[in-house]
Amino acid sequence: MIEREKIVYRELDETIDFEQIHELLVAAHAGNEAVDFDTTNVSKEEFLKKMGEGTVFTATYEDRLAGIMMVAPTKKKGWYVKGGCADLRFIAVYPEFAGNGIASRLISCCLGWAGDHGIKTAVWTTAYNNAAAIATAVKNGFIIVDYMKFRSVRHPSVRMARWIGVKPPAAAICKAYYLFKRTYTSIRSK
Ligand SMILES: CC(C)(COP(=O)(O)OP(=O)(O)OC[C@H]1O[C@@H](n2cnc3c(N)ncnc32)[C@H](O)[C@@H]1OP(=O)(O)O)[C@@H](O)C(=O)NCCC(=O)NCCS
Repeated sequence: MIEREKIVYRELDETIDFEQIHELLVAAHAGNEAVDFDTTNVSKEEFLKKMGEGTVFTATYEDRLAGIMMVAPTKKKGWYVKGGCADLRFIAVYPEFAGNGIASRLISCCLGWAGDHGIKTAVWTTAYNNAAAIATAVKNGFIIVDYMKFRSVRHPSVRMARWIGVKPPAAAICKAYYLFKRTYTSIRSK
């Protein structure tokens, strides 16, 4: 039984090495074979490159890594981007730690960091069928704003956005744009 109050949240430091991060990514993604994940093949160099000027938050339990999440400033453009934009990436919690609010706390750490760096929009892109990721994002105030098909990935993806300290677009506009993009993408990829 996990005692939630013993989970420690902090920015990545030298006590955690890339091997531990990689192990976590592989274990967290293992249960979802229908979803293509390039994050499990990532090298340390690519990971650091994707982090750029951003950072990684970790959750540890009795000195064991339990979860991670990266917040990385990006130049992404989109009708939903208000102010600067940051990507949430490499979101993973060990299955044995899932359901303890770890991802939710990591999201607030990332949003806090983004807000402190003047960023107004956080985006999270995931496979359209990654129910746990979508439920976690929605539970934490993200709204689905886009639907796309990347060439390198077998399945479509959805993008969700969360605004920080600015008025979000009307939910009806987000939904209308999402439905339009989903229809358009589905027709184009036939
Ligand atoms: C997605 C993931 C990070 C969620 O981590 P977590 O620490 O278990 O999430 P939380 O405990 O903060 O859950 C927050 C909310 O999300 C929802 N949720 C989380 N996992 C869910 C699941 N498997 N099915 C349905 N809803 C789920 C719940 O509503 C939950 O709120 P509740 O506890 O009040 O019911 C974790 O399942 C994971 O690592 N998945 C594999 C890796 C992955 O797919 N990452 C995203 C890639 S883009």
